[in-house]
Amino acid sequence: MTITHSTGEERLARRMARGCEFLGTQVAILGGAMSWVSERNLVSAISNAGGFGVIACGAMTPDLLDREIAATKALTDKPFGVNLITMHPDLTDLIGICAQHEVGHVVLAGGLPPSGSIDAIKASGAKLICFAPALALAKKLIRSGVDALVVEGNEAGGHIGPVSTSVLAQEILPEIAADTPVFVAGGIGRGEAIAGYLDMGAAGVQLGTRFVCATESIAHANFKKAFIRASARDAVASVQVDARLPVIPVRALKNAGTELFTAKQREVAQSLDEGSVAMAEAQLQIEHYWAGALRRAVIDGDVEYGSIMAGQSVGMVKAEEPVADIIASLMAEAAAALEKRAA
Ligand SMILES: Cc1cc2nc3c(=O)[nH]c(=O)nc-3n(C[C@H](O)[C@H](O)[C@H](O)COP(=O)(O)O)c2cc1C
Repeated sequence: MTITHSTGEERLARRMARGCEFLGTQVAILGGAMSWVSERNLVSAISNAGGFGVIACGAMTPDLLDREIAATKALTDKPFGVNLITMHPDLTDLIGICAQHEVGHVVLAGGLPPSGSIDAIKASGAKLICFAPALALAKKLIRSGVDALVVEGNEAGGHIGPVSTSVLAQEILPEIAADTPVFVAGGIGRGEAIAGYLDMGAAGVQLGTRFVCATESIAHANFKKAFIRASARDAVASVQVDARLPVIPVRALKNAGTELFTAKQREVAQSLDEGSVAMAEAQLQIEHYWAGALRRAVIDGDVEYGSIMAGQSVGMVKAEEPVADIIASLMAEAAAALEKRAA
């Protein structure tokens, strides 16, 4: 039972109640899945602190996911979720692993769920959460049986869509939030913003960047240092140089790797002009440029050439601190903001 002390805390608890009920938590804050970062330690720490940790399956094999879920369960008896990428070649088996472990919530990321995946997840008894990049897609996902949505704006770290969090929230919350829980993500660094989105009807929020420098996060010290030093303007979206060579938009801290990527695109475009490389091969070279780059930065600490995926809220990450302190600060800021509201 949550003990409430102030009007602000009481208002916050009321506004988070629906999200908490959906997640089975004390606090309606999801720790957004981050490949290589959101593993057993960070996920269990977030859940143990009252939030909702989510394992990033990323490119893990079914066997690795099986072990990660088991290890996370050993560290927490609180609810946590698993994030699966829709284009993973073993998606069906990964869903099966989640079902075996009776994972309560599965998050599907990376595009519309392939046929059969929604039914398979729901048949396991899990609640299904999907990303809605636009209102029309939000409605389509709900019609297909999705239980809750994450609305993630362009300010976020990692793979991004073109529309800002504030605009997506205004377009989607008034139409959807009354009937389906919606969690807002992207650019949230402080509790005042959480209070704002809750007032707009959100059931809760999802944060990624803010949790990277948690004490419990296994991210390399260099990766954490880069976050602590960076300001909002350092977290830039990847730039596409040539219309023939598509670049998947990713937000990350700019570094030597980012500059080399621009040079690489120019070089490949020139080879295309000269006819010395075929289109398919050229596109593959661009697609493969960042392969393994997030791991290189997060695990190996190569923050020069690896990919330092980070959202614009990185400027609000000031120190390494325990997850429980991060969540406590966010909740105190949100409660203080709500305390100031007229009754
Ligand atoms: C380093 C990093 C890795 C991420 N990896 C994933 C991922 O594997 N799957 C996913 O759905 N989202 C991923 N995200 C997005 C987060 O889950 C979350 O939605 C996002 O960070 C929220 O925005 P914020 O960074 O502004 O808090 C990643 C974000 C970061 C910063």
